[in-house]
Amino acid sequence: MAGRIPQDFINDLVDRADIVEIISSRIQLKKAGREYKACCPFHGEKTPSFTVSPDKGFYHCFGCGAHGTVVGFLMEHDRLEFVEAVEELASYYGQDVPRERSSYNTESPSGNAALYELLNKAAERYQAELRNDQAAIEYLKQRGLDGKTAADFRIGVGPAGWDFILKALGKTDTDRDNLLKAGLVTKNEENRVYDRFRGRIMFPIRDGRGRIIGFGGRVMDNSEPKYLNSPETPVFHKGRELYGLYEARQAVRNPERLLVVEGYMDVVALAHHGIRNAVATLGTATTPDHLRTLFRFTLEIVFCFDGDKAGRKAAWRALEMTLPELKEGRQVRFLFLEEGADPDSVVRDGGAAAFNERLAQSLPLSEYLIEHLKAETDLNSLDGQARLAELARPLLGAIPEGVYRELLLDRLAAEVGMPAERLGQHLGSGADAPPAPRRRSAQSAAPQPAEGGPKTLIRKAVCLALQHPEAIGGAQVPDGLFDLPNPGIALLNDLLQTAAENPDIRPARLAEDFADHPDGGTHLQTLLVQDLHLDPGANWQQEFEQTLVAILRQELERRIRSLSARPASSLSAAEKTELRELYGQLSGHHGAGS
Ligand code: GTP
Ligand code: MN
Repeated sequence: MAGRIPQDFINDLVDRADIVEIISSRIQLKKAGREYKACCPFHGEKTPSFTVSPDKGFYHCFGCGAHGTVVGFLMEHDRLEFVEAVEELASYYGQDVPRERSSYNTESPSGNAALYELLNKAAERYQAELRNDQAAIEYLKQRGLDGKTAADFRIGVGPAGWDFILKALGKTDTDRDNLLKAGLVTKNEENRVYDRFRGRIMFPIRDGRGRIIGFGGRVMDNSEPKYLNSPETPVFHKGRELYGLYEARQAVRNPERLLVVEGYMDVVALAHHGIRNAVATLGTATTPDHLRTLFRFTLEIVFCFDGDKAGRKAAWRALEMTLPELKEGRQVRFLFLEEGADPDSVVRDGGAAAFNERLAQSLPLSEYLIEHLKAETDLNSLDGQARLAELARPLLGAIPEGVYRELLLDRLAAEVGMPAERLGQHLGSGADAPPAPRRRSAQSAAPQPAEGGPKTLIRKAVCLALQHPEAIGGAQVPDGLFDLPNPGIALLNDLLQTAAENPDIRPARLAEDFADHPDGGTHLQTLLVQDLHLDPGANWQQEFEQTLVAILRQELERRIRSLSARPASSLSAAEKTELRELYGQLSGHHGAGS
């Protein structure tokens, strides 16, 4: 167990934290004299009564009475526990949270602390090894790097051979165990333990506080695999980390913009040429976690991609991930390099100037989005215009309501020659099912959402999952439900899984964790407090299960209606089979929900 955080440390941290900086990275503040104002994030209001006083290090809302220090704000706004809020703040300022040694603490570091220590020692060994490895030094030189850059990034080399790290750091059984846990060594089928990284240039990956959490290792020739990364470990989660973020923030604490590039070498080469604000995902696609992290430190993100097909695909995925994050003041741009080029090759051939020139020509997200949609449709035909509107609608709907969305809507409407109101219909319905059929078929016993409650069944299910996670983890899910393509289904599936894995999770935490979910996550704060109009003593699990059955039945009926509305002669053999199966499934689900 970790010991207590010393009070002095907390006081000091709070004293030195810039409350305006922290709060304004989350909500938009306007200067008003010596203070700052905003619409209160803790209650709905139209005129700002939320005030931040940098002198007092305090915030206060005259509307709802919320008030506190920067730690209190983080707890309320990010829905963190006290200790989490302190850690968040400390990590923002690049500080480690000290712990008092208590009777719980053993003498040697235990748990994750032991892993951090081993990873750091390993980095030291790899660095030391580089000084003696002429071939590795040559390799780095030939790639345009020097000792200074290598030292900044703590680049090293893992020598060929099976037991360099194992011998150096695996003296006791506990150490060898921890080496395995940290992913530094690995085990074969015969239980033989050996170094994971052999004969590779080592790039240490650091977390927000500069602790080494994993490595990427590159071969120095053309052998495969080119890169080897640490596996997922208790301290290393690929989808969350960004290579180079710590180093970038050492250079500039809150950079005007951050560049997201594809490779380790791109980050390092750019830094070597004085462009010190680049980060890379670890060979994975950009995740909501990444975006959330990036927007904590900057207002502008530029994604740099190869101009080839894979790069274009990755860019579009990044765009889709980014839409829910487009809050006021944030900007996203896309930089496409020509095929075969990457940021590394651009700076090596033409220096920082060449790269900055390209950067100046990067596309704002809105341009890229419009160009992409236009390329997929023929705007000269009416069909094409309608199709573009159809393609655009879910994308626009993923953007939080606000000025940005309005502007984009206007621009798109102008492109397709359609009034903005018409294009804008049905926006903001992330967790909604498609428009419900107007007439309920006579035999349908599907419970409809209660008056005044959530508007659709899927929304109701999401509300239930969110508000009563403890009751739904063990719920029975009807076959085929999660195969439905409806908006909100993927979200529901993920909520359910998380609730099942964490029976104690609090609703607020669940909403926060899924706020970035591409399938309607932005609505969760609203759904969290949505009145379900149900008896407070209801059996939530049963209510939830019935709702799931009802959703599936509604969808089956909808599909049946659309197939059976057509003359039988126009149905293909496959459609006829489907219809028969649908009837079968429907009868299987009858009665279960009532
Ligand atoms: P070089 O310039 O060839 O040294 O590499 P790079 O850093 O430019 O990488 P590249 O553009 O080829 O790939 C981008 C990123 O994808 C790398 O930095 C790695 O994170 C990841 N990656 C590339 N190849 C592999 C591989 O073989 N295995 C794994 N796990 N990841 C890889
Ligand atoms: Mn490269």
